[in-house]
Amino acid sequence: MKPSSISIVPLFALATFYLQGTTDALLHHSKYKASPSDDVITGRYIVEFANQEAANPFVHSLSTSFEHDVKIHEQFKHDLFHGLSFNLHDPNPSLVTASSYDEKLQELFDHEHVTAVYPIRAIQRPELTAIPVTNQNENIAQTILPHQLTQVDRVHKELKNTGKGIVVGIIDSGVDYKHPALGGGFGKGYKVRYGEDLVGDKYDSNQPNPIVRPGPTPLDNCGAASGASGHGTHVSGIVAGSSANFTGVAPDATLGMWRVFGCTGSTGNDIIIKALLKAYDAGSDIISLSLGDNSGWSEGPDTIVASRIAKKGVPVVIAAGNAGQSGAFTVGSPSTGEGVISVASFDNAHNLVYKFKATGFSDAIAYASSQSGKFPSGDIVAGDKAVGGTKDACDPSTIPATVKGNYGLVKRGSCTFSIKSANLAKAGAIGVVVYDNAGGDAFTPSAPDAKVPVMGIAQKDGEALLAAIKKGKVSLTFDGKLSPVPLASAKTVSSFSSVGASYELDLRPNIGAPGGDIYSTLPRYLGSWGMMSGTSMATPYLSGSIALYLKSAKGKNKKGTYIMEEFQNYAYKAPVQNGEKAIDSPLRQGAGLIQVYDTIQQNVHITPGQFSFNDTSSNQYKTQTFTITNHGSKTVSYQISNNVSLSVVPYDLATSGYTYIQPINYTTAAAKLRISKKSIKVAPGKSVKVKVSVIPPHTDVKQHIMYGGYVQLKSSNKKNGLDLSIPYFGVVGRQKDLPIFDQDFPYLSSNSNGTVAYEKNETFVLNRSKKAEAYIITRLLSGTALLQGDVVDVKSHKVIGKAFPDQTYLARNTLNPTEQAQSIPWDGSYYKSGNKPIPVPKGTYEITVRALHIFGNPKKQADFDTWTSGHIRVTN
Ligand SMILES: *[C@@H]1O[C@H](CO)[C@@H](O)[C@H](O)[C@H]1NC(C)=O
Ligand SMILES: *[C@@H]1O[C@H](CO)[C@@H](O)[C@H](O)[C@H]1NC(C)=O
Ligand SMILES: *[C@@H]1O[C@H](CO)[C@@H](O)[C@H](O)[C@H]1NC(C)=O
Ligand SMILES: *[C@@H]1O[C@H](CO)[C@@H](O)[C@H](O)[C@H]1NC(C)=O
Ligand SMILES: *[C@@H]1O[C@H](CO)[C@@H](O)[C@H](O)[C@H]1NC(C)=O
Ligand SMILES: *[C@@H]1O[C@H](CO)[C@@H](O)[C@H](O)[C@H]1NC(C)=O
Ligand SMILES: *[C@@H]1O[C@H](CO)[C@@H](O)[C@H](O)[C@H]1NC(C)=O
Repeated sequence: MKPSSISIVPLFALATFYLQGTTDALLHHSKYKASPSDDVITGRYIVEFANQEAANPFVHSLSTSFEHDVKIHEQFKHDLFHGLSFNLHDPNPSLVTASSYDEKLQELFDHEHVTAVYPIRAIQRPELTAIPVTNQNENIAQTILPHQLTQVDRVHKELKNTGKGIVVGIIDSGVDYKHPALGGGFGKGYKVRYGEDLVGDKYDSNQPNPIVRPGPTPLDNCGAASGASGHGTHVSGIVAGSSANFTGVAPDATLGMWRVFGCTGSTGNDIIIKALLKAYDAGSDIISLSLGDNSGWSEGPDTIVASRIAKKGVPVVIAAGNAGQSGAFTVGSPSTGEGVISVASFDNAHNLVYKFKATGFSDAIAYASSQSGKFPSGDIVAGDKAVGGTKDACDPSTIPATVKGNYGLVKRGSCTFSIKSANLAKAGAIGVVVYDNAGGDAFTPSAPDAKVPVMGIAQKDGEALLAAIKKGKVSLTFDGKLSPVPLASAKTVSSFSSVGASYELDLRPNIGAPGGDIYSTLPRYLGSWGMMSGTSMATPYLSGSIALYLKSAKGKNKKGTYIMEEFQNYAYKAPVQNGEKAIDSPLRQGAGLIQVYDTIQQNVHITPGQFSFNDTSSNQYKTQTFTITNHGSKTVSYQISNNVSLSVVPYDLATSGYTYIQPINYTTAAAKLRISKKSIKVAPGKSVKVKVSVIPPHTDVKQHIMYGGYVQLKSSNKKNGLDLSIPYFGVVGRQKDLPIFDQDFPYLSSNSNGTVAYEKNETFVLNRSKKAEAYIITRLLSGTALLQGDVVDVKSHKVIGKAFPDQTYLARNTLNPTEQAQSIPWDGSYYKSGNKPIPVPKGTYEITVRALHIFGNPKKQADFDTWTSGHIRVTN
């Protein structure tokens, strides 16, 4: 045994994968769709039926079989989803024995009308911190609104279109509809007209017995002390908020809010399904979801329901995710669902910052903080004996006594802002000023539990302050007022915005909208107004824009896919950085930033709105065809060309194999396109078809470069029609060749956090009477659709059964501390289909773990990564 040899970062906080106990039969059922690890909630399931008639008999059997041990949570009686969710408690031994329990479940799920069984998964709430804005005034609001970036200002002004009467259904944390900018009330005659509270304040799907207390209205009245972020209120304001100094995207749209989060904590995918169906039934013209995970697959039941609604023609707009810093393939589900619209975030043109004055400095210094208010004046001193080093204020013993009663200045890095601020507060500091360590501007340090103000400033300001305090006394004074400053990253993709594609190589995100540094409403208990950043903000922005589109003459009776194409056709393609020529990849920006006025006013349409040339394993996807249709009254003509973007380099092949680069790297390698018609003319009412074939760049196939660009249609007369473009991407290499297991993984460990690694030639002794377990520590470089484990008897070389239930549709691991690996416990039992765990006879065993490659065939052994453990001697 040796300390684990993980070369990247030590493992910790590994999530345990599966449950044990009374529901194993279910987990082994062929209809069971297992799914990723740590967010599965044990003992709770969603069952789907072929038709509604199956529901009552099923409920009846379930109740007679399990009496008090079963609780039915949600019943879905809908053409788009027949089913229910339930949870099982531990069996009451006086009623049933554990084994009959298993058999009963088995029988229930065997029934032909049951089409699928899914685990209930926790959907984490988007963890966004609001920055309260207390000095709201016209100047701030006008500068900070992003409507000029998206042409929404022109739609309001020139087209007099404010989305009146279009219904946007939002699924979120509730809304403070008593806020004056959100109408001040609920129901008929009010802006927030539809919806309800599906869960209540105390709901958190991760609790063992979640408290569900539905309410008639979706009011978020959590109160500041609850820790609620006001997410749903911020989202609502972006769509349709309206006041003297603030204008949402569609200020006269009607809102529905289906509240799926309690004041804190996560929700379940069964609640999301319920909310989706309710929003659909209420007649929402658009459904908007600022939530999701980082999984990149599209097979979960909530994703399936979202896709079915989209198929009915209702645009379903979903956040791409905020995991862009973790590299490629971080777009989350349900935004990966077929036909739904996955939204990337672009940065706003301005941010709001606070400023303090420092003696000796002519210009006030900008800072950001999640705490607001006028901080007390005071002197600033070094916050570490070796200030400016790499570990400032990470260790209490290096904090000078002089910080007492003063502000402490420290450099960012090595430990969290919470640790720095706690150490300084303990030493008596009245506040903490952290300066950036990577050349960045003022930033918001996240230290939710800080007892003193914590501020983030630019590195250059921090260094200037440091030089000044070395010379003499420096005092700070605060006015607590926010003022707008221009952002260098305006109109480019936000750094946090998740990167595509989906694991199945669909182009995601589809399109972008402003989501970085967005000003909107907050619940009154949080001060009514504030800033937030996230694809959570970009999503309602697009939903509001679709409301404007639907309100226009052009939008009548248009379906979701058509609408998405319209927005894609006329989007703004952002450079990778302002001032640079190179265009950012469609895997970051989709078609680009929405241009709402053009989308509404232009008369030419291209379908499809995007291409995936897939990988280079076959020629099937190499040629794509688009159709351009002129709905206007004048002939339009175009030159068609290939406008390449930067390519995404997903892996750091040279130093770490197929570990993803976090964040992605770029390269200029570009594809060539063979276009069947270089110039076209389209008469009014006519369509033209054009074929596009790709010649991928000649990069090393092992690198799996993700190239991309835009098929550009340059209009020869802008008066008759503007330019259009179609985003495309593809991968050089075969995704099927990508390894799933990282080097040195899996391995056996004697503890669940994987800190002790057994070598292949070491025998692991598993003493069952000590209730010991072996842990299989896995780290997935790439997502996998299937992970299986077999128990092999060393003597006979025979597989005696499964070591753990099949896991399906797992997301990849990252380099982030809590996402590096996971552990699968093995307690010395095996499973046969439909049986409860059977203890293996005393003896020596090996465990074989297999993970299916992307696009692999589960029937082909060669399509799996396979690992076999060393010997495990099972005693007692
Ligand atoms: C709007 O801004 C003005 C100052 O520009 C301020 O007097 C007024 O109170 C603001 N309105 C609201 C509703 O906050
Ligand atoms: C890419 O190709 C694979 C088969 O190699 C296929 O399963 C997948 O659906 C394709 N993706 C798209 C978006 O066409
Ligand atoms: C490519 O797109 C960029 C950004 O929209 C544009 O500035 C440039 O002119 C385009 N190039 C061609 C060849 O159309
Ligand atoms: C990312 O790209 C830059 C510039 O091409 C290069 O210097 C750097 O080594 C790359 N990083 C990785 C991890 O490949
Ligand atoms: C790892 O697990 C062992 C035993 O299960 C425990 O003693 C140890 O504190 C854990 N270490 C970490 C870093 O969590
Ligand atoms: C197992 O193999 C390693 C080298 O691969 C060796 O260093 C070690 O001594 C071996 N351990 C045993 C118990 O044989
Ligand atoms: C297993 O553990 C039990 C209880 O601690 C102990 O009595 C027994 O000797 C152990 N067996 C072996 C083979 O180590």
